[in-house]
Amino acid sequence: KKIELIGVQMDLGASKRGVSMGPAAIRYGGVCEGIRALGYDLTDKGDLLCLTSGETSEKLRNYQQVVDINQRLYLSTMESLQNGALPIILGGDHSIAAGSISAVSKHYKQIGIIWIDAHGDWNDEFSTESGNMHGMPFSAVCGWGPNLMVDFGQGPVFVDPKHCVQIGGRDIDTEERIRMKKAGVTVFPINVIDKLGMSEVIEQAINIACRDTVGFHLSFDIDAITPEAAPGTGTVVHSGLTVREAFLAVETISETGKMLSMDMVEVNPILDIRNKTGILASELILSALGKVVF
Ligand code: ARG
Ligand code: MN
Ligand code: MN
Ligand code: MN
Repeated sequence: KKIELIGVQMDLGASKRGVSMGPAAIRYGGVCEGIRALGYDLTDKGDLLCLTSGETSEKLRNYQQVVDINQRLYLSTMESLQNGALPIILGGDHSIAAGSISAVSKHYKQIGIIWIDAHGDWNDEFSTESGNMHGMPFSAVCGWGPNLMVDFGQGPVFVDPKHCVQIGGRDIDTEERIRMKKAGVTVFPINVIDKLGMSEVIEQAINIACRDTVGFHLSFDIDAITPEAAPGTGTVVHSGLTVREAFLAVETISETGKMLSMDMVEVNPILDIRNKTGILASELILSALGKVVF
């Protein structure tokens, strides 16, 4: 089985700079060697770089650079899918999930999404409180805007929110929550994980993402994990997933054989401690690809 890795040196969708160095940190964490050791045929396509300047606005900060990189990531991801490879995208801030998922959804037509994150990333240019576009990609790929993040003239195929699941949410803006409910995204916030346990939650999530779909895209924002274990990220929220809950989620995902593609985003080496978060991100990718403990 072929895997193609795409790094995206993008940090203009967030307020704190530095996640553009995430791809290097995850590679130093051993991801390429690990993928090859699992027996995959891996091509590392290197990194996409963003424009050095561009148009901006209050409610869509750095939108020109965000749109440009997503358009190029869309093309690169599409090319990998057409090569028969499973694309793994290393961020970068979460705005890049607009480009990767647009390609996966265009290619397979009927996909689900499992979104593991402290945040909903379900804002548009009207509901956003920050104007940061990393808070918008999940909404965009579902056709709830901002449309410029996903429409590159290809005729976007939107993902139906009924095949979408958010896991680990604990900082969701007021308007954003209303939009997610209206759209019908299933949310397993952190307190529901406390009650049901990750084992039950991930099973339900997989069922939702697999019902009437070809498979699903996994978008993993490292800030889903509790900050003590993953300090290297820009928008930390206390009391998150434990490391073991996160591994249980990706290991169970791997067992399904239904993961079509994956993003690992928001690793910020400037804020990290001895690349702890980069190494964790690398290990989570490997577990999602079938690495087992025993
Ligand atoms: N909801 C907040 C916003 O829209 C935070 C988003 C954080 N997103 C992320 N990918 N870390 O600005
Ligand atoms: Mn987040
Ligand atoms: Mn907030
Ligand atoms: Mn996110």
